[in-house]
Amino acid sequence: MDDLSIFPISASINQNGHLAVAGHDLAELANQYGTPLYLYDGATIRAQIERLNHLFKRYYPGEVVVAYASKAYLSLQFAKKLANWGIGLDVVSLGEIQIAQRAGFPPSVVHLHGNNKSEAELQAALDGGIQAIVVDNLEEVELLEKIAYRSQKRARIWLRITPDLSVDTHPHIQTAHLDSKFGLHLENGEAEQALQHCLSSPWMELSGLHTHLGSQIFDSEPYRMAIERVCEFAARNNYIPSEISPGGGWGVRYTPEDPNDDPEQWVRTLSGAVQEAAIRHDWPYPRLVLEPGRWLVARAGVAVYRVGNQKTTPAGAHLVSIDGGLADNPRVALYQARYTAKVVERPADPPTQTVRIVGKFCESGDVLIQQVNLPPMKRGDHLAIPASGAYQLSMASNYNYAARPAVLYLEEGRIEIFQQRERPEQSGWLAYSQENE
Ligand SMILES: Cc1ncc(COP(=O)(O)O)c(C=O)c1O
Repeated sequence: MDDLSIFPISASINQNGHLAVAGHDLAELANQYGTPLYLYDGATIRAQIERLNHLFKRYYPGEVVVAYASKAYLSLQFAKKLANWGIGLDVVSLGEIQIAQRAGFPPSVVHLHGNNKSEAELQAALDGGIQAIVVDNLEEVELLEKIAYRSQKRARIWLRITPDLSVDTHPHIQTAHLDSKFGLHLENGEAEQALQHCLSSPWMELSGLHTHLGSQIFDSEPYRMAIERVCEFAARNNYIPSEISPGGGWGVRYTPEDPNDDPEQWVRTLSGAVQEAAIRHDWPYPRLVLEPGRWLVARAGVAVYRVGNQKTTPAGAHLVSIDGGLADNPRVALYQARYTAKVVERPADPPTQTVRIVGKFCESGDVLIQQVNLPPMKRGDHLAIPASGAYQLSMASNYNYAARPAVLYLEEGRIEIFQQRERPEQSGWLAYSQENE
């Protein structure tokens, strides 16, 4: 079984019969850099960006900015590459603002989200002159106005509108329903109140409207409905948005059973809905700002682990333990996420064994894959988990004082270190023990 369709586009089986990415043997990388090891394939990320740019050229006649949702995964080295590739950045914290600045993003393509931004974050965004501060709630309108007045600087803003729509995804990653903590809801009138206030404030420059429905979505219809609701709301209030951001959220395949993740229907639907609204309300085409996170980077990422102990439970499950898990990938515990895997040394061997892949952390919930068919493995083999590029390392922890993994960026014939493996003292134990001696 050598289906590599969930792996990066440059994945192959090399002359040793090992799994390779961009021509690099994953067993050799694991031996050289240690495990757990995270790899990003440059060719896959560039191909995803090109695919989106191509689709928008085809379907939207106005200007488009693709702004990567940096919460999916960000490091300074990666941010520098993204800035060179000419895309924008969606940030949500002071740390992400600072990385955007250090990486050389023009402020005009960076925007700031967050449902509880601190004064320091708002001030940094205002001082940095970014494209937009995305105002989330009525209190934030007042807070930002105060900061703008104090700084004698007009704040360029979008309003985050919650269209009160549920989407078909895990409840933890739905963001636009009636009970959501995010944004200004349409249903209870707070969106209208914020819009009217911002339009009349000398300290607010309202350049657009934003909405984000959630993540890991494969149906484009809710996007059409959300854009329609947001645009109707603007028109009812005699407001012409020069920018519309329908967020991110398009899904990716984690297993071969997942639906097709080509974003063509998504781009066609969003582009069509915005054009329709512009024509209906006699607006110039707004600039469309998209915020894909997962779709741009998930497939590019591979997590590589070393196989350790194996045992069979009295209940009959054959367990294969690996040297990572919950601390570098909390998605299974958070969202019951499903994954598949390949044995790096024998990816094409018949999968004759049904096993459970368990992590090394002190939680029974630290199970990476509940059930997967793989060839027999022995201690020291390596396991590669595809579609590991999004919301894994960015949500990683030091649970059990685990050191965060090394992260490599791969091109044909070239390896760059995005992040060094954390040293034990950086993972906290030394600092903690010194403080308490
Ligand atoms: C406002 C906003 N935009 C974009 C994204 C990116 O979503 P995804 O990674 O699913 O594309 C998120 C994710 O939480 C978000 O909150």
